Amino acid sequence: MDDLYRENIIDHYRHPRNKGHLETPDIHYHDVNPFCGDEITIELKVVDGRVAEVAFDGKGCAISQASASMLTEEILGKTLDEVRALEKEDVLEMLGIPIGPVRMKCALLPLKVIKAGVWGMEDWPE
Ligand code: FES
Repeated sequence: MDDLYRENIIDHYRHPRNKGHLETPDIHYHDVNPFCGDEITIELKVVDGRVAEVAFDGKGCAISQASASMLTEEILGKTLDEVRALEKEDVLEMLGIPIGPVRMKCALLPLKVIKAGVWGMEDWPE
């Protein structure tokens, strides 16, 4: 079973979904994994309180980039509250393989960036 998840991670790493930039993002947030210097930028377009468009950019290991790619698919169409409610466990379930302590920061960097961006928009008009 792990193999399927591994293949999925490699596929997202090699063919990242939603990679690039939006023309006029409402939310733009960037952060770095302090342990390795790898980085992720997330951009969101919000319409009626939902993620209408999403893009990410960054450089880093397979886990961080695949996690970012998968998360962009996960949050597309969700309300900002639903995005805020995403947890570490959701990311680990999405990745589907055991993630050791060293890789945990890689796996969670994209979620951290997304949440930081979305929490900055607390009072988004409905
Ligand atoms: Fe840098 Fe994974 S080694 S994010």
